[in-house]
Amino acid sequence: MSKIIISPSILSADFANLERDIHIVEKAGADWIHVDVMDGHFVPNITIGVPVVKSLKKVTKLPLDVHLMIENPMKYVEAFAQVGADILTFHYEAVNEDEVLPLINKIKSLGVKAGISIKPKTSPSVLDKFLKYVDLVLVMTVEPGFGGQKFMNDCVEKIFYIRKNSDENLIIQVDGGINAQTGKLCIENGANSLVAGSYIYNAPDIAGAVMSLRN
Ligand code: DX5
Ligand code: ZN
Repeated sequence: MSKIIISPSILSADFANLERDIHIVEKAGADWIHVDVMDGHFVPNITIGVPVVKSLKKVTKLPLDVHLMIENPMKYVEAFAQVGADILTFHYEAVNEDEVLPLINKIKSLGVKAGISIKPKTSPSVLDKFLKYVDLVLVMTVEPGFGGQKFMNDCVEKIFYIRKNSDENLIIQVDGGINAQTGKLCIENGANSLVAGSYIYNAPDIAGAVMSLRN
């Protein structure tokens, strides 16, 4: 299995000091920066959008892993790609079935990695026919919307299912309630990318927290 990609979520960073907080996780050995985009419709929270991603691009060389928790992602992917998103992950639940493949192709045509995500109540089998087209599958292990929630153990079997049905080039990312213990469980079940917000940013030793996820 390939190297584990650690993607700290800046949702738990200090929004008044995003540059500082990104440099902290860079130094701690992070691989990507996870950016949670929420629109107040697909999820009950509102966070950040295109202008912030544009500014983040100027202060980091790490890939920007943009998690779109928004309705109508097709309308926005181009704008996010233009300002420097490197990975664009949309939610299966946010689009109609017949829009999934066109959206994946659109994202790839923008020169960006395409990811698809499922919420905890969504069966992984809905992704069967799309696995060969995407670069990344994001398995949510909390209801999307907020950081600091408790990991949902019953989502772990979805990781196993998706890995079983895909080849090892697929990045399987997990997001929500990830810490050293839950992260290990996800990796054992086939995940190779971990998103963590509160576990990393609330840690007294951020470098230690990033390292503990990798091992
Ligand atoms: C939740 C977001 C997550 C969130 C994770 O909707 O998608 O990326 O920041 O936060 P923790 O790691 O605290 O659960
Ligand atoms: Zn996220």
